[in-house]
Amino acid sequence: MQDSQLALDPLPVHVAVIMDGNGRWAKERNRPRLFGHKAGVDSVREVVETAHEVGIRHLTLYAFSTENWRRPSLEVKGLMTLLKTYLGGEVANMLKNGIRLDCFGQKDRLPKDVREVLDQTIADTASCDSMRLNLALSYGSRTELIAAIQKIGQQCADGELDPAAIDEQLFSNYLYSSGQPDPDLMIRTSGEQRLSNFLLWQLSYAELYFTETKWPDFRGPQLLEALQVFAKRQRRFGRTGEQAETK
Ligand code: FPP
Repeated sequence: MQDSQLALDPLPVHVAVIMDGNGRWAKERNRPRLFGHKAGVDSVREVVETAHEVGIRHLTLYAFSTENWRRPSLEVKGLMTLLKTYLGGEVANMLKNGIRLDCFGQKDRLPKDVREVLDQTIADTASCDSMRLNLALSYGSRTELIAAIQKIGQQCADGELDPAAIDEQLFSNYLYSSGQPDPDLMIRTSGEQRLSNFLLWQLSYAELYFTETKWPDFRGPQLLEALQVFAKRQRRFGRTGEQAETK
């Protein structure tokens, strides 16, 4: 095994990313916010490629939150256009690399043309099994949790589900991430250190990695750096350090 590979061992199975700082990156260059988002799409391409190359099996990118609908309509429109263009341009690559696309979030709130491309890409890549790429779109963790609780409550009320059967595993099955492992590593760019309503249940045991680098400057090498930091962390899951080392 080469040194560079050793430094990435262990590799997280699932990496989740809050892609932050596009606006500030553009402002630093006296350019409109959309210029930053466009550069951010190039980062998305590179990060997906590098994640796939090193063997990350699940990658979740926070591309648009439920709160982001409050942004100026021109910015929202621009982001939706970028998303549509990205999906349309990337499907061949996804198929070539075995990348299966999924969406975490309120798909029905997305403009019809974006939803159509999204649904088509999800369908086209459904049998790909090298890496899962989850785009969190119109996503909010509290909304996701409430929807799960409502569904479970309804099934209990209808006598379809025994409340005593509700455990962590069952609950997880009601989330967008059903069937996928929880993230091992959560990366947030641009110096902010908060979760911003992102995967609150799923990130319970994730290692958190914050970097000052703004998303448009976060590319393959920066992902590898985060993975190297992760490889050095000791994950204890409630055990003592000694127990975790001898596991
Ligand atoms: C946060 O930066 C970024 C977003 C709200 C959008 C992220 C979108 C992309 C990277 C491009 C489109 C995505 C895909 C998957 C094609 P910000 O605008 O909040 O930056 P700021 O905090 O500096 O203002």
